[in-house]
Amino acid sequence: MFIIKDDLDKDALQNAAKKVEEKFLKLLPKAVDLEQQVVDAMTYALMAGGKRIRPFLVMESARIFGVGESSALRVAAAVECVHTYSLIHDDLPCMDDDDMRRGQPSVHKKFDEATAVLAGDALLTLAFEILADEKTHADPRVRCELISYMAKALGVNGMVGGQMFDLLAENQELDKIRITRLQRMKTGALIVFSSEAGAILGKAEDKRRQAIKGYAHDVGLAFQITDDLLDEEGSSEEVGKTVGKDATSGKATFVSLFGIDQTRIMATMLISQAIKHLDGFGKKAENLRNLAKFIINRAH
Ligand code: IPE
Ligand code: IPE
Ligand code: MG
Ligand code: MG
Ligand code: MG
Repeated sequence: MFIIKDDLDKDALQNAAKKVEEKFLKLLPKAVDLEQQVVDAMTYALMAGGKRIRPFLVMESARIFGVGESSALRVAAAVECVHTYSLIHDDLPCMDDDDMRRGQPSVHKKFDEATAVLAGDALLTLAFEILADEKTHADPRVRCELISYMAKALGVNGMVGGQMFDLLAENQELDKIRITRLQRMKTGALIVFSSEAGAILGKAEDKRRQAIKGYAHDVGLAFQITDDLLDEEGSSEEVGKTVGKDATSGKATFVSLFGIDQTRIMATMLISQAIKHLDGFGKKAENLRNLAKFIINRAH
């Protein structure tokens, strides 16, 4: 088996995480009465930790395209809001029925189901409010483009469609092509948007924008494949969520189709391919290269 070693600068990842968490506290809405409960649930979910990989992708791609940090941070926060919404809803009893998330009780366990649904809804709408604000970018066309691409990444041809597919596919035989499509939709699309966001903010030329998208296309699939490997092989303490659920629920994954060793080889090949897309970016893309390697090496 081959493993690609990563030299990811963990301080850079942590530093981006810290900045984005400070930003959440500024961006979370204020409540004045009983609606405070939904803000508490949003705060609980957002501040629970998480690797903050999507914000890091936004910030690194923004850096490559010469975008200022304040714009990048707002988009990074918006992306993590929608990612967190997707996790809250994914854990609901009517979906994956998962009681643990990011090492603590899921939102519907800590609060209740209705609050979890509403906290997810409010995080989704907050993200669009953040992107629409002129503090995100002075040019309204850029803001519209961000909104449009994020909406597409989250909708029927992206995350929501992928989640529908995923739920209906339990106990069904899916071939590699369909599993790949499902995973690119449910997980890959938001990872592609996170990486492309820097190119949108920086009004990058098409060739460079396509290169970063190519990178993210491969990373996005490898990310979900690794999540499935961790579900099969990881420990709940380390992963911070229930493990072994994919096998119990009869979920079609690369692991169920090809077994652990073959799956790991495919993820490794995807990461090598992802890194090739960054050839034109030189040293500036070193964090993105290492992040790609880290994504398949991670233990959580
Ligand atoms: C988990 O995403 C859900 C998937 C799309 C596989 P992450 O592994 O990025 O979760 P956090 O944000 O670190 O908790
Ligand atoms: C969910 O995939 C991806 C999302 C869009 C939230 P999983 O259901 O495998 O994610 P985990 O393992 O619960 O984090
Ligand atoms: Mg799921
Ligand atoms: Mg799940
Ligand atoms: Mg999983």
